[in-house]
Amino acid sequence: MEKEVQIKHIRDYVFTLFQADESGHDYFHMERVARISRKIAEVEQANVFLCEAAAWLHDVGDKKLFHNPNEAIEEMNTFLCDISLNKIQINEINHIISGISFSKGIAVPDTLEGRIVQDADRLDAIGAIGIARTFAFGGANQQLMYHPNSKSTSIQHFYDKLLTLKDLMHTESAREMAKERHQYMESFLKQFFQEW
Ligand code: ADP
Ligand code: NI
Repeated sequence: MEKEVQIKHIRDYVFTLFQADESGHDYFHMERVARISRKIAEVEQANVFLCEAAAWLHDVGDKKLFHNPNEAIEEMNTFLCDISLNKIQINEINHIISGISFSKGIAVPDTLEGRIVQDADRLDAIGAIGIARTFAFGGANQQLMYHPNSKSTSIQHFYDKLLTLKDLMHTESAREMAKERHQYMESFLKQFFQEW
């Protein structure tokens, strides 16, 4: 099966898994992470197919999103086998997606492809989209947008995580893309507190 066709099948598979998500991990998050990963992979001369495939699938088996993460991963592997990915490719995809989530730890992925998908996932957590996802997450989790005396608010999440991400990018391409998104968040926060 051609790689292009395999990616199309992966996209359809991801659509069935994430179409109903309202926690900030919807299908379009996967689409953006896949597109950014592809773009960075081309510039960084990484394995573009692996980056794109792993990016589409990067939230499969996330403990926050799946009642049975191991089963989700097993089903994904069966699916990848069905669309003719070989054992090595399937192992590489598993390796990438098990190592990228911010919430799963801060270890730096040990392959270029893993670092690229992590950069792309982090880019989608900052900038205008990042701001929107943060308040969508807050709403879905009964969290206040802001409270002057509380540390568990969506605004606090900017200081705990989002403003740190630009310095955690691994690739030059991602660092470059992060600059504008970071500045946008800073001006958002400035305006937010002015209005508050
Ligand atoms: P990952 O996709 O790496 O697992 P998360 O699940 O932690 O990342 O985050 C998914 C989205 O939800 C991101 O946009 C993130 O900023 C947002 N988010 C995560 N935790 C919080 C929180 N406590 N408050 C507001 N937004 C959050
Ligand atoms: Ni993600």
